[in-house]
Amino acid sequence: MKKTENQMLVIFGASGDLTARKLVPALFNLFMAKQLPGNFVVLGCSRSNMDDAAFRDRVVLQSPYLAKKTKEVPSEAIKAFAQLFFYQDLGGSYDTDYTALRTRVEALNHGHHTEGNIMYYLSTPPTLYETIAKNLDAAQLSTQNNGWKRLIVEKPFGYDLKTAKALNTALQRYFQEQQIYRIDHYLGKETVQNLLVTRFANTIFEPLWNRNYIHHIEITNAEHVGVEKRGGYYDRSGALRDMFQNHLLQIVSLIVMEPPIGQEPEEIRNEKVKALKSLRVMTDPDILRDHTIRAQYMKANLDGDWVKGYREEDGVAPDSLTETYAAIKFYVDNWRWKDVPFYVRTAKRMPTKVTEVVIHFKTPHHHIFSGTDMHSQDNKLVIRIQPDEGILIKFGVKVPGQGFHVERANLDFYYSSLAETHVMEAYERLLLDAMQGDATLYARADEVEAAWTFVDPILEYWKNGEDVRMYGYAAGVWGPENADDLIEGIGLWRNPGPNLTDDPGFCVLC
Ligand code: BG6
Repeated sequence: MKKTENQMLVIFGASGDLTARKLVPALFNLFMAKQLPGNFVVLGCSRSNMDDAAFRDRVVLQSPYLAKKTKEVPSEAIKAFAQLFFYQDLGGSYDTDYTALRTRVEALNHGHHTEGNIMYYLSTPPTLYETIAKNLDAAQLSTQNNGWKRLIVEKPFGYDLKTAKALNTALQRYFQEQQIYRIDHYLGKETVQNLLVTRFANTIFEPLWNRNYIHHIEITNAEHVGVEKRGGYYDRSGALRDMFQNHLLQIVSLIVMEPPIGQEPEEIRNEKVKALKSLRVMTDPDILRDHTIRAQYMKANLDGDWVKGYREEDGVAPDSLTETYAAIKFYVDNWRWKDVPFYVRTAKRMPTKVTEVVIHFKTPHHHIFSGTDMHSQDNKLVIRIQPDEGILIKFGVKVPGQGFHVERANLDFYYSSLAETHVMEAYERLLLDAMQGDATLYARADEVEAAWTFVDPILEYWKNGEDVRMYGYAAGVWGPENADDLIEGIGLWRNPGPNLTDDPGFCVLC
């Protein structure tokens, strides 16, 4: 096991939702698993006026997000965990003199022997990232002459290519690239990492992982929820920026990449960048029209309850043109993937919550068993990222009886069958990696820029192109009526159910 050095975690935006909802529960898991270093403290900072006790109450002792986890835990352990938390009020603004913060950091460092190692976590609106980095630098809180300093930043990394580049340049003015950890929580998911293992630790898949054997690749990311309380943020973002540019293109890069020469972070990240750079950027309006679909969910009755349409959600403009559904077809211009279409879609208010990758293999080139349709003949590898995490192989078997009637059968593996193994939550894994200085699962500046390079022209076309349609779909269905047009000639989307082995079609709403 790697060593986690003594350190301090300083969270900016500590009074916000992410801290209580994700970061503190992840730290709690690490605490219970004895994965935190011997000397460790968390200093929360924000503009809210609170003292240490109020902060501990808010994020630990009274936190609804921890209640379930702490139910079975002895109260002394919870108290000991709460004692790790401290709070520093920054006053009315993040753009201020950080001398008081520095004094507090030094006192905690001295009192708790954290050896000058500090991880800064920016859980604030992205507009503040540069400001915070600049002020940390001005207060000499970024210098590494006395312990290491790392900076974790949350998505979005920019709003488009231009702003992403500007953000990278700004952060790199105060921190070196090796100190910057851009978090993408999908990379913390065990099943996303398993894409690498499935491909590169087996001899049975990799020889087939190319244009000679793969017909097309489909990725679905569906959420059952709508925009919830985040209408204001979402309306300026949309599905393409919120999910596709980051989480889904990260998954794409792991499917597309060439084998790295080893498991060193930079070796893996180099291959991912190469993969993203090989996506064919679409700029021709005709191609963009035929290869992209955007849509918004509309009011519908789900199981007896009316749910709002997107334009009726709080914080959303009544004439909004922000997509809650995005489906993109694209190609990858390299030796391995020439002419293999990729179909990727992401949406809110779908029938269920599911993320999966489907590798559709080519049908056998000579059809011996006539009368069987393509769906019984093609092999599929389904990699279920969530929920019901696992892997499914669909293959043809003979239906007992006369003649040779072929049907599909399933070979499946479920993560839940690894009963004794604790599957770390995404933030838990990613925080621990950053604490240990392992950036493998964090996005590098060039990776983020390569992803924006692909996404920018789609956004531009959707914004300013001629005759660009915004379709509607009733909340709770698999997207707009024409969603299947994108994969015309190949078949239909696999509309997965909540269970891995459910066959496409309808599913029960939760
Ligand atoms: C976030 C998006 O990054 O990912 C949200 O901003 C989305 O809109 C969420 O709901 C989905 O994450 P998960 O892990 O629940 O699939």
